[in-house]
Amino acid sequence: MTSSSTGSPVGRDIERVDGRQKVTGRARYAADQHVEHLAYAALVLSTVGKGRIRTMDTDAAAKAPGVLAVHTPFAPLKLYAGGGFGESFAPLQDDTVRYRGQIIGMVVADTFERARDAAQLIRADYDTEPVRASLPAGLPGTPPPGRGPAGASTTRTTVLADGVDSIEDALDAGEITVQTTVTQPVQHHAAMEPHATTAVWHDDHVTVYCGTQAPGIYASGIAGQLGVEPDRVRVVSPFTGGGFGGKSIPWGDAALTAAAARALGRPVKLVLAREQVFTLAGHRSSLTQTVRLAASRDGVLSAVSHTSAASYSASGGWVLTPASGTSGVFYATPNLHVDERVVTLDVPAATAMRAPGEAPGSFALETAMDELAVKTGIDPVELRLRNHATTLPGTQTPWSSKYLKDCYRIGAERFGWHRRAATPRSRTDGEWLVGTGMATAVYPAGRMPATVRILFRDDGTATVASGAADIGTGAWTVLAIVAADALGLPLARIEPRLGDSSLPPGAPAFGSMTTGSTAPAVQAAAADAIDALRKLAADTPASPFHGQDPADLRYHAGRIEGDGGSATFVELLAAAGTHSVGATSSAARGDEGKKYAFHSFGAHFCEVRVNRYTGEPRVSRFTTVVDVGRVVNARTTRSQLIGGVIFGIGHALLEADPLEEHTGRLAAANLGEYLVPAHADIPPIDVHWLDHPDTVYSAFGARGLGELGTVGSAAAVANAVYNATGLRVRDLPITLDKLLG
Ligand code: MOS
Repeated sequence: MTSSSTGSPVGRDIERVDGRQKVTGRARYAADQHVEHLAYAALVLSTVGKGRIRTMDTDAAAKAPGVLAVHTPFAPLKLYAGGGFGESFAPLQDDTVRYRGQIIGMVVADTFERARDAAQLIRADYDTEPVRASLPAGLPGTPPPGRGPAGASTTRTTVLADGVDSIEDALDAGEITVQTTVTQPVQHHAAMEPHATTAVWHDDHVTVYCGTQAPGIYASGIAGQLGVEPDRVRVVSPFTGGGFGGKSIPWGDAALTAAAARALGRPVKLVLAREQVFTLAGHRSSLTQTVRLAASRDGVLSAVSHTSAASYSASGGWVLTPASGTSGVFYATPNLHVDERVVTLDVPAATAMRAPGEAPGSFALETAMDELAVKTGIDPVELRLRNHATTLPGTQTPWSSKYLKDCYRIGAERFGWHRRAATPRSRTDGEWLVGTGMATAVYPAGRMPATVRILFRDDGTATVASGAADIGTGAWTVLAIVAADALGLPLARIEPRLGDSSLPPGAPAFGSMTTGSTAPAVQAAAADAIDALRKLAADTPASPFHGQDPADLRYHAGRIEGDGGSATFVELLAAAGTHSVGATSSAARGDEGKKYAFHSFGAHFCEVRVNRYTGEPRVSRFTTVVDVGRVVNARTTRSQLIGGVIFGIGHALLEADPLEEHTGRLAAANLGEYLVPAHADIPPIDVHWLDHPDTVYSAFGARGLGELGTVGSAAAVANAVYNATGLRVRDLPITLDKLLG
């Protein structure tokens, strides 16, 4: 609109605008907030999996040095359940123990150490009940009570071609059939920043500093939990140290901290201990999935069935639906059946995690596709090309833009796929068995309404503000880049603002939607801010353009041009005697949403080495090529896709929290035993993107990409393990004991 193409920062490799603050320790996360007169809270968690608290002995804690308050179900702070897809109960409101690791008490003291020590003095006696904590090996569960935040909706879908009576008939009719059942244990977000809250009341308004993926959702959620009007709660979260789904909705800890601060008349800070994050802030459900495929001998799919049973908490939470997001969109098929169920257990509430349905769902589907490639003898890339979808199954709905075939082709070239040996266990390098595998990535390109305020200011900068969150992915920088482009100003003159629920409502940082939703709103706000500047130029008596028609005035790179020459916005603001001029504007998906499907696409290629004596699997090479529309920042695009692939490597090889069947205890609820990839586990990851702006998705053309990299990447690893060893491990994670075949 306004900047010369050579000057725009869009698509370049731009350092994070907040990078220096982070590496110098000046970036303040929720736990870093220092306020006067701060008190510190510590939690007491249940040590049984189900039952009632008979008594709690809090005397020693109450008398311990520095203790200011002790809150228990017998002396509770009033709170309300959060609703939505959070827990169905509020902490401390009754004596019921619903899962092991539930909040049953809180101590507030004058120092962190004193609060923690006093919390350990509290003793609880329980009447226990038997715990349900095992996911049956068989599939049949019960239909889910609801599906994510949208509430109840069916998760049973069947699409049948004309003349086909049932999915069973369609599956039976296949010349080649595959049936595969895959399982995975509870997994955790494991964000580096633990959930933390600093709550500060001013009269009857509270400012809550807490890491979040969505300041607005947190503010209204915490207000509901406290039972106060939404405008009484302001959530401030300039930096969030990773969320991955675990900071999408407020859990019990934030409102409890705010309630404790209100009761004490003093600010309170609560930082969850690492093991507390594992039970108090969600996880990915354990899951069993079965995929059945029917195909012709030349690999063309005629039927796909994808069924699942996921663990679900008796105290609410997210419903994991792995099949509907994947099987219906990855490949063309005339017959499709999806049935997703849950098994209700006495476990902590699960929540969305890292491409919540798509990552586990794609593991099942892409494992089955690899098995089909083996059975038909067709190259895995060729098999996927033969089943390429141009419309959503069962509909005529095309994609807004789709260059998945190019991802396969370019990825195969970059990776050197043609050097692959199709026969398992046929490539070795010393004591290492070497194999390669690939998989497809597809993730929905959602869009949420977003509002942005842009102000030209008399110091020569322009602020661009939206109540979005930067969860470490680079939203600060994206906001600045898109505004610099829209205003034709250098990046250094843009001041981005986000992470505050008092800013204009921003898009949430989940569902990979921040950039795609926010960029069009930045463009709209820029256009409106420029209009406001034109009007100011025409209306201001001391302006060189006074009395002219604003429509005749041109804006270019921070200047207004017209009859009478040119003036900068700083000069015009000075002439008008005002500090700023601008606009607040919104953007949302329009009618195009009814005509098109919107997804981002990619292809993963992986090489693994498995030690023939120890079974140790190592990922040795990885190439990912994606089609995400327009790329805003090369630096953070690459980083996000690398991060997604690392999630996939963790998913495939490492991440597991075994649930003890008799106690309901999550047995690896700490970072010593819950393994996530470390640097030594990760090879150089080659990331490449196509550059096809998706102007149907939005005029700006940038779709989301945050979660795309973790869809399919676990399957690419597992398929490479199969190619290396001839062993098809269907029970994640693929640990070395399963490879001593
Ligand atoms: Mo992501 S699981 O949509 O935060």
